Amino acid sequence: MKKILITGGAGFIGSHTAVSLVQSGFEPVILDNFSNSDHSVIGSLERILETKIKWYEADCLDGDSVREIFSENEFAGVIHFAASKAVGESVANPLKYYRNNVESLLILIDAMAEYGVKDLVLSSSCTVYGQPEILPVSESTPRQEAESPYGNTKKICEDILRDYIKSGAKSRIVALRYFNPIGAHPSSEIGELPKGVPANLVPFITQTAAGIRRELTVFGNDYDTPDGTCVRDYIHVLDLADAHVKSIQYLFKQEENFYDVFNVGTGNGNTVLEVIKAFEKVSGKHLNYRIGPRREGDVVKTWANTDKIKNLLGWTPKYSLEDSMRDAWNWQVKLGSAGK
Ligand SMILES: NC(=O)c1ccc[n+]([C@@H]2O[C@H](COP(=O)([O-])OP(=O)(O)OC[C@H]3O[C@@H](n4cnc5c(N)ncnc54)[C@H](O)[C@@H]3O)[C@@H](O)[C@H]2O)c1
Repeated sequence: MKKILITGGAGFIGSHTAVSLVQSGFEPVILDNFSNSDHSVIGSLERILETKIKWYEADCLDGDSVREIFSENEFAGVIHFAASKAVGESVANPLKYYRNNVESLLILIDAMAEYGVKDLVLSSSCTVYGQPEILPVSESTPRQEAESPYGNTKKICEDILRDYIKSGAKSRIVALRYFNPIGAHPSSEIGELPKGVPANLVPFITQTAAGIRRELTVFGNDYDTPDGTCVRDYIHVLDLADAHVKSIQYLFKQEENFYDVFNVGTGNGNTVLEVIKAFEKVSGKHLNYRIGPRREGDVVKTWANTDKIKNLLGWTPKYSLEDSMRDAWNWQVKLGSAGK
């Protein structure tokens, strides 16, 4: 079985990718410092998969630990999720973000080169596109100046990888630009664990319905969209996880010295009110929300052109918005009031 190192593998997307990797015949090895995840995720994964999961509590910024993990395992590839991801915090504390998101990538690339591991998948984000002029947004759309230090770290990481490959490195690398990952594993064993007040819409919805938050504010309903609220491309986290497996399999088939980027979204945009309606339908709950003023800096509408990933990786999403909302709600019910 090919071993795949997943940094940040105890986190939201990493843990679901661990499931998909095992189900596709790989052996995931998790490296996480648990700064934004819980140790209980390991047990949850083992219950879902009915197998032991190898994991290390380590920090990607600690080069000695990272190299030690490489020396103990023969990795076929690496998926690098570990990063800090709170946009607001990145504005207040940019150096934390440049260090954790950019320096960790450099340390990882060095370790991969030292141990002859060629294949890498990086978590990037649709945030690199800003507000695209043409929709749906394809990979050839020029990236825009980042709105936050967090967004900038994703652009910089992409640039580092592109330049590294341009320099003749033998690696094979894919950066995946995620749109809006939501949902949870249908078993309700793993899901998103937002710390404090959630910055994303779906955990805010489920926490409001669970009584943890009093009400949801919808930021603006006078935009140029079907119902005036902002539009995003919401993708079930298990579909996103599958895109990582397909990316690793794709990389194995490429010549050395390879870099490419792929959008990962459903190809459909949904408004905030559509997401709320889907939630109310699958949960049978009425959501307490109100319309508030526009929020500065919000992208009004974005959704992905997914032709490239469909054609080259043979990947297509399987889950609907309602599936995602059902799984997110079941996960919230399981969490109860945790996350207060
Ligand atoms: N969730 C989203 O909406 C979204 C969208 C686009 C891109 N991304 C990117 O996807 C990746 C995964 O996101 P997520 O939503 O699963 O986040 P998450 O916070 O749930 O998972 C990240 C994991 O990395 C770990 N981690 C952070 N810094 C570390 C370090 N220095 N060493 C070891 N472990 C470390 C955390 O403990 C956590 O378990 C991130 O790179 C994020 O920027 C996420």
